[in-house]
Amino acid sequence: MAASIIDGKLVANLIKERVKEDIQNWMSKGNRAPKLQVVLVGDNPASYSYVKSKTTDCIEVGIDSETLQLPDTISDRELREIIEGFNKDDSIDGILVQLPIPDHIPPQAIIESIDHRKDVDGFHPMNVGRMQVGQPCFRPCTPAGIMELFNHYSIPTKGKHVVVVGASQIVGTPTAMLLSREKDGGKSTVTLCHRYTKDLTKHTINADILVVAVGSPGLITGQMVKEDVVIIDVGINRVADHENERGYKIVGDVDYKSVSEKASWITPVPGGVGPMTRAMLMKNTLLAAKKSLYP
Ligand code: GUN
Repeated sequence: MAASIIDGKLVANLIKERVKEDIQNWMSKGNRAPKLQVVLVGDNPASYSYVKSKTTDCIEVGIDSETLQLPDTISDRELREIIEGFNKDDSIDGILVQLPIPDHIPPQAIIESIDHRKDVDGFHPMNVGRMQVGQPCFRPCTPAGIMELFNHYSIPTKGKHVVVVGASQIVGTPTAMLLSREKDGGKSTVTLCHRYTKDLTKHTINADILVVAVGSPGLITGQMVKEDVVIIDVGINRVADHENERGYKIVGDVDYKSVSEKASWITPVPGGVGPMTRAMLMKNTLLAAKKSLYP
């Protein structure tokens, strides 16, 4: 039987609608609109397109946003000074530096230069650490969005075997953490696979829920999963497509055709996890404006 679709676009729209109402309510009490400051370094076309979608979402929900575009020649120090300025600016609630940044700038130093109270990406060690110990914090947007999808579709995670493929700092590792955690978490048994995992299929074939976030088009095929698996495909890959007027199409890390024949639920790409990441960013920016997490 064909898999049911986990419609991230639909769920993201519901979340954005709620955020929009909350913002209207917040502003009706005399508060200004929340403001997100985005920093884009260099001219990576994919990053440019993600930032554009994020700022479109801001307009939709009533968040002010500004994007500072910087040349890829900027130094580590100059970038940190700019961020320092945003940290001190009371008119800015959330700061987002779109990743990846050019190789000569260490990303961790940039992440740590952002005031954790404005870290709407949830990447600062203060937020990462507080999430681990179950304290109020900004949750990273993609893992938080994935948890919302399970919640919306009432897909049980308690006691399930979740296999996460990809141990990145911003998706795989925090997703594994949230899913395994008891308090406000998935209560799942989690296997975290990465580039050094031997015999990936040995793990994926046992997954009740498979989360894939590696950036490798079509990595997971139908033969690698069991019947009725739930598939969360985080991959957003541009592959050449001469029939498409842009010259490329977007595909996930999962071979949709063969996997959807076996899965019970699956996220499409595009229209699955991507819109959820952006919706959670809107939610985090509102939380930052309200100072709900760090009063
Ligand atoms: N690059 C890819 N995903 C993300 C994200 O969620 N936040 C930022 N800042 N950069 C990214």
